[in-house]
Amino acid sequence: MRDEHTQHWQQRYRESSPAQMPWHREEPAETLVEAVKRGLLPKGLTIDLGCGTGTDLMYLARQGYRVIGVDIAIEPLRFARQRCAQAGLDIPLIQADARFLPFRDASIDLICDSGCFHSFAPEIRPMYARSVARVLKPGGILFMREFHHDQPQPPEGGPYRLKLEEFFEVFLPDFRFISVGETFYHDLPPDRRRLHILRLQRR
Ligand SMILES: C[S@@+](CC[C@H](N)C(=O)[O-])C[C@H]1O[C@@H](n2cnc3c(N)ncnc32)[C@H](O)[C@@H]1O
Repeated sequence: MRDEHTQHWQQRYRESSPAQMPWHREEPAETLVEAVKRGLLPKGLTIDLGCGTGTDLMYLARQGYRVIGVDIAIEPLRFARQRCAQAGLDIPLIQADARFLPFRDASIDLICDSGCFHSFAPEIRPMYARSVARVLKPGGILFMREFHHDQPQPPEGGPYRLKLEEFFEVFLPDFRFISVGETFYHDLPPDRRRLHILRLQRR
């Protein structure tokens, strides 16, 4: 689908190399590591949705998750593929749109989304919610880390700073909110790094 959202991301990755993107990091997100250590994320077939340069993906694979990376843009996938090869990790990486996930109904146990959903404009959020609800098994988990509304919103639009109500609006009634909390984005300035951390369960 060649809409504004798709074009935005394709353009974004043309501006500089994936390694120079502000979200690229060498270490997995602390909140992901903590959730894995606490056994909060089921160890089954997993999608890292909007996987970018692949750091969380590689961490999940090393922890024994059968993980697939999905991103709408080809550049970060190429970069992630090189990193996986260097690390000796054989991880499927697929260029696909979160709104049209190319997986069977009720086939996925876990979807991790770090900073993908918050790039969706309000009118296309329901498409994302329907797509992840379709592919998750009943009882499957959607683990999200997305910008918090208590931060300045960039004038040009996304990434969107989200209120909890905005999650409720699109994810109810297909999901139960099993935990809602806050965390911080690794190295953004203090006034811009607050994040929601959510665990939703497919009904
Ligand atoms: C802020 S980056 C975060 C990347 C990675 N999750 C991380 O934490 O480093 C958001 C990523 O989501 C991807 N993305 C945005 N919209 C998408 C969509 N509709 N389907 C799949 N991926 C998408 C972007 O290309 C980008 O790589």
